[in-house]
Amino acid sequence: MNEDKSYFERDKRLLLNTYSRIPIDISHGEGVYLFTNRGKRYLDFFSGLAVNAVGYNNPKIKEAISIQLGKFNHISNYYFNSAQVDLAELILKFSDMARVFFTNSGTEAVEAAIKLIRKKHGADKEIISFINSFHGRTYGALSISGKDKYKMSFSPMLTNIKQIRFNDVEELKNCIRENTAALFIEFIQGEGGVNVLSSEFAEEVKRLQLKYNITIVADEVQTGLGRTGKPFAFNHYNIKPDIILIAKALGGGLPLGAMLTSEQYSQVFTPGDHGSTFGGNPVACAAGKAVMEEIFEVKLYEQVSELGEYFISELEILKDRYPEKILDVRGMGFMIGIEMQNKCTKVVEGLREKQILVNCTNENVLRILPPLISQKKDIDFFLYKFDETLRSS
Ligand SMILES: Cc1ncc(COP(=O)(O)O)c(C=O)c1O
Repeated sequence: MNEDKSYFERDKRLLLNTYSRIPIDISHGEGVYLFTNRGKRYLDFFSGLAVNAVGYNNPKIKEAISIQLGKFNHISNYYFNSAQVDLAELILKFSDMARVFFTNSGTEAVEAAIKLIRKKHGADKEIISFINSFHGRTYGALSISGKDKYKMSFSPMLTNIKQIRFNDVEELKNCIRENTAALFIEFIQGEGGVNVLSSEFAEEVKRLQLKYNITIVADEVQTGLGRTGKPFAFNHYNIKPDIILIAKALGGGLPLGAMLTSEQYSQVFTPGDHGSTFGGNPVACAAGKAVMEEIFEVKLYEQVSELGEYFISELEILKDRYPEKILDVRGMGFMIGIEMQNKCTKVVEGLREKQILVNCTNENVLRILPPLISQKKDIDFFLYKFDETLRSS
């Protein structure tokens, strides 16, 4: 333990103070579990914040990475690389979009979209996003994010951007006009507390999309690639985005994101407009192809949908059992929020003591993001331990 302790201390001393580290010393992962150096096993229902969708130590991802490493681990984007092309083909097939731009992260996918929108519509046109939304930490993404706490010390933000209330049809109708360029939507707000877009609101978005020809951007960085029980969260609605942003699960743990565009937007960028040294790194893309195959070729999201319904219905039963502790249960598939009466850090700690990892967002929303490969027995284990935690708290 001395050695582990020294890592905590050195981490605190050497790294900038941007993360509140959880004091467990993870040695490795396997499937849905993380293990510590002292042999403790945790059920990881946080999945590295929705990244480890197909499980730790996934053999197909490892094999794909290893084969690519044997060829080259980097090549400049001045050359084509076959790993990018193979992955692009798969992504476009399953998303029904026309073109891809690869990035290293979600926030970079958002930046690419903001630039593309400004080039298409002009920078004087307005971009609309939502209060409580989260799109990333770089300046463009931060500017469209609707969580003031992340922006507080960093003004000024980009201009011609406005946040409106999520699911407020009247406000949406009042603010979308000829001067609107684009609307950025998380169909389920993740960091904002697992808030699900209403069908009524989505219908109005669709009507306005047609009326004003605005660009609908689906930020699927957290919700995409099967997490909500369908390929993308927008698939739960009668709507087709013009741009889809993905990241997190895509690289199987390696840094990879993408902006997908419909045909209409496929010629907006020309050489020199945008780029990245590492974006679409071949090793990350090879891993991405394995991830896409694992999720899409076997339709893993259908299992997620079925088990997610079971999970949510069992949580509803717990809500009825503990009405003074649980205010609401919401979400889709394996993206579930449990709104607690009080701040949920204590519940997260209680579950951690019982060897389950989850997260707390928006202060009182317990966020559960199991790996997509989780089985009913994992959900039942969580439910049993959660019940115990609620009983004793
Ligand atoms: C919906 C959404 N968009 C964008 C981002 C930013 O992604 P990244 O952290 O990879 O930059 C996140 C990260 O949590 C997110 O949840």
